[in-house]
Amino acid sequence: MLALPTASVPVAWTLTNVIHNLGMYVFLHAVKGTPFETPDQGKARLLTHWEQLDYGVQFTSSRKFFTISPIILYFLASFYTKYDTTHFILNTASLLSVLIPKMPQLHGITHTVNMLIFNKTAGVFFKPSRRKIYEVLGSFHFYPGKRFLHKLVLGIETSCDDTAAAVVDEAGNVLGEAIHSQTEVHLKTGGIIPPVAQQLHRENIQRIVQEALSASAVSPRELSAIATTIKPGLALSLGVGLSFSLQLVDQFKKPFIPIHHMEAHALTIRLTNKVEFPFLVLLISGGHCLLALVRGVSDFLLLGKSLDIAPGDMLDKVARRLSLIKHPECSTMSGGKAIEHLAKQGNRLHFDFQPPMQRAKNCDFSFSGLQHVIDKMIMQKEKEEGIEQGHILSSAADIAAAVQHTVACHIAKRTHRAILFCKQRGLLGQSNTVLVVSGGVASNLHIRKALEIVTNATQCTLLCPPPRLCTDNGVMIAWNGIERLRAGLGILHNTEGIRYEPKLKELNVLSFEYKDDATNCLMSFERFC
Ligand code: KG4
Ligand code: ZN
Repeated sequence: MLALPTASVPVAWTLTNVIHNLGMYVFLHAVKGTPFETPDQGKARLLTHWEQLDYGVQFTSSRKFFTISPIILYFLASFYTKYDTTHFILNTASLLSVLIPKMPQLHGITHTVNMLIFNKTAGVFFKPSRRKIYEVLGSFHFYPGKRFLHKLVLGIETSCDDTAAAVVDEAGNVLGEAIHSQTEVHLKTGGIIPPVAQQLHRENIQRIVQEALSASAVSPRELSAIATTIKPGLALSLGVGLSFSLQLVDQFKKPFIPIHHMEAHALTIRLTNKVEFPFLVLLISGGHCLLALVRGVSDFLLLGKSLDIAPGDMLDKVARRLSLIKHPECSTMSGGKAIEHLAKQGNRLHFDFQPPMQRAKNCDFSFSGLQHVIDKMIMQKEKEEGIEQGHILSSAADIAAAVQHTVACHIAKRTHRAILFCKQRGLLGQSNTVLVVSGGVASNLHIRKALEIVTNATQCTLLCPPPRLCTDNGVMIAWNGIERLRAGLGILHNTEGIRYEPKLKELNVLSFEYKDDATNCLMSFERFC
């Protein structure tokens, strides 16, 4: 009934009841000729279905149906409402009133109260929406629990160079999403210029949020909350998303959920896979590089981070230095992707770059030192080949292969240390240890291969969100909002004094002195890959 685009929940309930009663009338009384009961028939009115059957008021061939249907309905209702206590009590009372004599009035009362609560908790009044159709259809397949889900969050992301928005429901269904990427503009200027990014966010945010909402067929009034990235990121970019969100929050009187961009990246995997806390996360992209232990929705332990630049940033710089944008096969690729592409044609053994921080007894990363070494090497090669800067070296593919391999080794070694450290300290669960890898650089297959060697050697499972959720997006922000709503964490009903925070305030930092001699598992990768 709810699948009809015009049927709201109360309308569906009412129609269902009318059809139910008409059906009863037609089959019991008109077809089978059962005596018609009226409220003033005294004794029969006080009888339960069972007693009516016994007294012959209702014909006995229906007995099985009357016996079994309330029991099935009881289990279905309890299952659909996920054993919600109120429904559970009312359903139980409803069932007992059918089974126990002298309680038919209770049956009616409990049914009515339960229906009213269903209507209320369904939270959808008079507004037809496609969401209901999805919910109902979904309920016939694998997730019957969705039928009564009602938490809906709009997520808004503007921390860097993507303007993104999405509407996600409690079960992780992405009901609508939209994104505007500024990459093309920033590629031309050779990097992100904050005022330009700010202007582009301003020009696009209204349209993107509107697109996400329209695609989801959810009106702002139906939202449970609005979640927005407020840290960390570019101050000017964060400001656009925050002020737009606060306007919406004010207009529709919705709760506001401030989101930590990194936490959102880290929790995305729980939208696509069944991953329990605690798990390890490695974020590697153009702007991020960190390794953290995720212990809960807002309980993170930072194990390591880059002391300088992120790996994607470094790969972009090397690609620029190699002028790969002029390479016919790589002209439309990001720096990292171009390096991966070219590396397939090169021989990494022609160059010998050492992974950084080999002796550092922690899980931090560093890429700028390596980048300088590579820059020097490129300069030397240009001299040798008699080529001016801005032209492509004949050894570009070999350099790309060596750079990619060195970055892969560095990332894998630091991650290996983190896994061993967590295992040694009992910080990860005993079974089914999970390492989640996300961010643009995580799409690099050579880096994934190195990480796979590490996870295989440490009996871990390596998981990556699908590529579109690895990079910045609105879905991860909305999902973080859902996680926070479910956990009851950081939901603001008063947004006074809320500010964006460009700098990454440290997650809980774990300081450790930890010796390991366990990078052996990577030796074959280093030598033969
Ligand atoms: O996550 P992302 O789209 O944006 C942020 O940095 O937030 O990541 C983009 C970064 C760029 O630096 C790009 O060069 C790198 O990810 N990247 C890659 C690959 N594809 C994108 N790095 C290595 N291998 C790739 N296949
Ligand atoms: Zn990001």
